[in-house]
Amino acid sequence: MNTLEAIKARRSIRNYNSTPVEDEKLKTILEAGAHAPNGAGVEVFYSVVRNCEVLEEIRSLARTPNQAPDYDPFYGATTVVVLSAEPHPIGCDQANAACAAENMLLAATELGVGSIYLLGFVLALKNDAATMQKINIPEGKVPLLGIALGYSDEAPAAREVAIKNVTYID
Ligand SMILES: Cc1cc2nc3c(=O)[nH]c(=O)nc-3n(C[C@H](O)[C@H](O)[C@H](O)COP(=O)(O)O)c2cc1C
Repeated sequence: MNTLEAIKARRSIRNYNSTPVEDEKLKTILEAGAHAPNGAGVEVFYSVVRNCEVLEEIRSLARTPNQAPDYDPFYGATTVVVLSAEPHPIGCDQANAACAAENMLLAATELGVGSIYLLGFVLALKNDAATMQKINIPEGKVPLLGIALGYSDEAPAAREVAIKNVTYID
């Protein structure tokens, strides 16, 4: 699969089974994150959460009162990577994490690993210092996004997209 094929094939997976992601593939996905462009030298930190109890703790933190008690913001994934960085005045923290995330999603796609970019749970995690400490988010860094990784029986087709919202100023 070349880069453009991976870009087009990548879809968000929202139904994971219990098959674990192989360490070698996880390493390749993390390496793809590390190769992302980086503004102002703001480092991205990766917490690879595979411990069931810790995943469950984050799930319960993230569940809002109007969600079903079994709502799972990770869709059953048994590997969730939380990306964090030090807040930066012009947003290089978020931009760097997002660049790393997209690289990771594309690498996962190439490797046949399902993935999804997740923001929904981050606010709850950010407000819980004890859980942040439990997943080794360094002092002074804040969680910015998560990526769930795993395998699924679902294989959503590539989306039909049109090029839009583009103006040329020649
Ligand atoms: C910044 C960002 C935040 C997202 N947060 C969530 C989330 O919290 N939960 C979720 O189910 N999907 C989340 N998504 C996935 C989007 O819903 C998904 O990418 C979009 O619907 C397009 O579908 P596709 O990824 O299959 O192409 C997020 C995507 C981005 C880029």
